[in-house]
Amino acid sequence: MYLVTGATGGIGRRVVRLLREKEMQVRAFVRLTSRYSELEHRGAKIFIGDLRQEKDIQKACQNVQYIISTHGSDGDALSLDYRANIELIDQAKSTGVVEHFVLISVLGADRGYEDAPVFQAKRAVEQYLTASGLNYTILRPSGLASNLLPLAERFRETGFYLLIGDPKNRTSIVSTDDLARMVVDSVTVKAAHNQILPVGGPEILLREDIPRIFSRIFNKEPTVINPPLFVIDGLRSALLLFNPQGQKANGTFRTLLANEFFCTKEEIANLEGIFNFKLETLENFLRKYLAV
Ligand SMILES: NC(=O)c1ccc[n+]([C@@H]2O[C@H](COP(=O)([O-])OP(=O)(O)OC[C@H]3O[C@@H](n4cnc5c(N)ncnc54)[C@H](OP(=O)(O)O)[C@@H]3O)[C@@H](O)[C@H]2O)c1
Repeated sequence: MYLVTGATGGIGRRVVRLLREKEMQVRAFVRLTSRYSELEHRGAKIFIGDLRQEKDIQKACQNVQYIISTHGSDGDALSLDYRANIELIDQAKSTGVVEHFVLISVLGADRGYEDAPVFQAKRAVEQYLTASGLNYTILRPSGLASNLLPLAERFRETGFYLLIGDPKNRTSIVSTDDLARMVVDSVTVKAAHNQILPVGGPEILLREDIPRIFSRIFNKEPTVINPPLFVIDGLRSALLLFNPQGQKANGTFRTLLANEFFCTKEEIANLEGIFNFKLETLENFLRKYLAV
């Protein structure tokens, strides 16, 4: 039995699909309010709970051999990126039957960004998992291509693209389909065992390439709105006055905008060697989903 957290998310739903195509038993951890009917139709066992509740995690981990943690932080990195993952790891150890643990971390988790709670939580969990004695794979993706689908739809309607910060910053956005395949294969591919792997797409893009790709796909001239990063800094100062928690979450957002997140050619070649398939480009991924 596989336990998948974040099973309704961009990565998680694709992981459940792939596992069910292979006729694996899947327990999908979802919230009562999650949109999970697709997972049910695919034959996953639905476990309703909240990852903020230790008891729910304990119950969900009973009789599972594989744990795949893909959930997001929902604005609360301490409870979800940190505590929920620590509890999943503790439960995996205490049941004694978990054969492999796959964790979705983030590219740059090891860079020590002190202002970014998600990065700090991911790094702490990575360290806890690698020291746990469990068999693991940690995947550190850069941006996910599926996150760009709503932006592409907005571009299709309006021709506008909002690009905050330096347009020349480099990024290696990964196809969420490829990432899900790597997640699933991590359990069986020996070369992925007990590894921390940076994950990106096959090309190093500049952030300004994204509206160009949208423009090619929709055959529409882009209007790029490019406010500088200090706009976000102004917003953060205002948030601090009213909502210190929101200001902290915003620190992760600023970190993502202010820095480069890309994989080297060698890292991508290593990834393709381990998983034995060619990664698809961002444009290829988008064209599959945008029906153009
Ligand atoms: N987005 C990126 O570009 C990116 C880049 C690098 C790494 N990552 C990592 O990739 C993972 C997925 O990220 P994402 O942004 O793509 O996620 P997402 O699609 O927003 O999905 C988040 C998932 O977590 C679930 N969730 C949130 N709070 C929960 C709770 N209290 N109890 C149970 N489930 C809960 C959500 O359930 P509901 O359906 O109920 O909301 C959803 O299934 C995260 O670990 C993230 O840090 C993302």
